Amino acid sequence: MLTKEELLSHFDQEFGDSSQKTHVFFAPGRVNLIGEHTDYNQGYVMPFAINNGTYLLIRPNSMKRFRFKSLNLSEKRTVLATDNFENHKNGWWKYPLGIINEFKSLGFQLPPSDFLFYGTIPDSAGLSSSASVEMVTATGINYLVNAGQSALELVSLAKRCENNFIGLNCGIMDMFAIGMGRSGDALQINCDTLHFDYIPVKLDGFQWVVCDTKKQRLLSESKYNERVEECQKALNILNQRVPARHLSAISLDQLLDNRDLFLNEEILFNRALHIISENQRVFEMALALKDKDINKIGQLMTESHESLQFKYEVSGLHLDTMVQEAIQLKGVRGARMTGAGFGGCAILLAEIKEVDSVIFKLGQLYSEKTGLSPAFYKVEPSDGSVAFIEHQAR
Ligand code: GLA
Repeated sequence: MLTKEELLSHFDQEFGDSSQKTHVFFAPGRVNLIGEHTDYNQGYVMPFAINNGTYLLIRPNSMKRFRFKSLNLSEKRTVLATDNFENHKNGWWKYPLGIINEFKSLGFQLPPSDFLFYGTIPDSAGLSSSASVEMVTATGINYLVNAGQSALELVSLAKRCENNFIGLNCGIMDMFAIGMGRSGDALQINCDTLHFDYIPVKLDGFQWVVCDTKKQRLLSESKYNERVEECQKALNILNQRVPARHLSAISLDQLLDNRDLFLNEEILFNRALHIISENQRVFEMALALKDKDINKIGQLMTESHESLQFKYEVSGLHLDTMVQEAIQLKGVRGARMTGAGFGGCAILLAEIKEVDSVIFKLGQLYSEKTGLSPAFYKVEPSDGSVAFIEHQAR
């Protein structure tokens, strides 16, 4: 973990001295407690921002170029400010470029600048490192060009970047959690209206732990877009009888009453069943958290995982092994995969007095079964990306 002074010194080493000010910004990553794959079905989600994230240092230059460097990745990139950004989508710099592009289309032109990123979110783990890069860039540019966009407007801008520039048909959950997170709380978000409530999720005597399977999320983008399409097909089938704009506007009874429409379309029925039941679990989770009903919290996590495993089919051997081994251990009260799936992370709730032993034993059991060395992070619900740190006169 580098200090701000160390980051500033890396910046100067990389881009040289300048009389211009260097500005420092931060955006967290996120983990989702429950409500998986529901966001692009305009349903309910319950993520929280975590205490790992992305730092960004920006300084205008006089070179007519944007220069991008990350301390986490070796490859860096220079892009002429007048270039077509579409020709520069072949590396991680596509995320800041997409955000610069979105501001441009709003009429805010960022002057040519140098960017240094430093991330403390494990890469490709499903903790939204790319949404964190997008949101920290959006926060920085908003400040530098004085665009006056609200946190919620920045969330929508980052989603447009992901959907239109990057080409992933994701929902709004990741940027929302990163932009609007609040220490101690998760957000219960209605992804249709964008109405949200803060839900306290710090439970006395318990610890949330993210379990990184270290299984690469192969094909995750194409599989993700496939699920988005399947949900649309399931909706089209139901629309023959049920007028609804999206799957989340359909009740479980309506789905079950119209099961006959899904003759030979068992898979599409299962996708819809997951979405509709998962929305319900988000509501039940909010109540269980309010009542501090640990057994119910655990039960909902298990049900969510099973639905993702068997009905939505986005889990896999590694995530299933992690969850199944976890819930057998003394002190673990619930576990489920989190994020898009196809590898990546699970989240568990453990009693604080047992948490270190849980991490140790689960690491051993998981390694024995899969041959991979997992990583564990004790995560805390944290503040969102509006955390602009300060700028330094150099
Ligand atoms: C990814 C996407 C989110 C959401 C989750 C699954 O993280 O970026 O929009 O769909 O998967 O819940």
